[in-house]
Amino acid sequence: MVSDKPRILVVGSINMDLVLEMQRLPDAGESVLGSRYGYVPGGKGANQAVAAARLGAEVTFVGRVGRDAHGDTLREHLAREAIHAELLAADEQAQTGFAAIPVEPGGQNRIIVYAGANLTIRAEDVRKAFERPFDALVVNLEISPDIVEEGCREAGRRGVPVFLDAGPVREMDLRRLGGLHVLSPNETETRAYSGLPCGNDEEAALASRRLAEITGCRQVVLKLGERGCFLYESSAGRGERVPGFQVQAVDTTAAGDAFTAGLSTQYLRTGDLRRAARYANAAGALAVTRLGAQPSMPRRGEVEAFLRERGVEP
Ligand code: RIB
Repeated sequence: MVSDKPRILVVGSINMDLVLEMQRLPDAGESVLGSRYGYVPGGKGANQAVAAARLGAEVTFVGRVGRDAHGDTLREHLAREAIHAELLAADEQAQTGFAAIPVEPGGQNRIIVYAGANLTIRAEDVRKAFERPFDALVVNLEISPDIVEEGCREAGRRGVPVFLDAGPVREMDLRRLGGLHVLSPNETETRAYSGLPCGNDEEAALASRRLAEITGCRQVVLKLGERGCFLYESSAGRGERVPGFQVQAVDTTAAGDAFTAGLSTQYLRTGDLRRAARYANAAGALAVTRLGAQPSMPRRGEVEAFLRERGVEP
């Protein structure tokens, strides 16, 4: 259903990120001095929720934090972003998810995630969410595969399209997630799940086809960083690359999450996946120009202005 303010359910992770800027990463047994650090709201699911809300969707978030200070901060942050978070539960035992993210000059990062409470989301939380109508479900793999499966099942029963951001790589059989509308892995995830590289368009087409065969999904959208993305339509059996935008990179953290939110929101708004892919490329590019996860998520007006400046209709 095409709608200017699509209703998106995000079932996913929510973390407190510790972002540490440094000249270079230490070798084993070495200490290096960092230049700046900060605690920043993150987690793939919450990043996608915040980005989708800023891009104009009405967002409901299902997730779990711990009963601790980070959990309280993250909950308040979602409320400030006008996200429906009644189903963000606080687990009695587990700690709030946490990620340590060293960032080197040029924006390259590495992410170490402690999943904590993210792994305690329950199936009934997901079922409860689906008591309300949604235009799409957005999920990622930073939570228990059983919960991802539950979300896909509930969405499938109601004909709600599912967008799966296939990160991070998990030991799971993607065949379990029947009926995905869009499967969107990055390059690392593509190689892990398809066993194939995607370094050029020909390879991307082969890897996409393999992923479509494995999962039975309708469309594959490979996230290729500054190269943009590769769209593959299962019914047509072919795909094309949608070029990305060159920007000055500060921090690549959560650029993929901005992309996923842009793709799903603009697709639901226009019904046009190619147009949504250009929009998603712009959202990802803008996120790369800023430090941290959720603070770097762009707003609808910014993405539209960015595209228009480059002669592209949003
Ligand atoms: O995609 C970026 C996110 O991955 C970070 O915010 C971190 O929390 C990890 O979940």
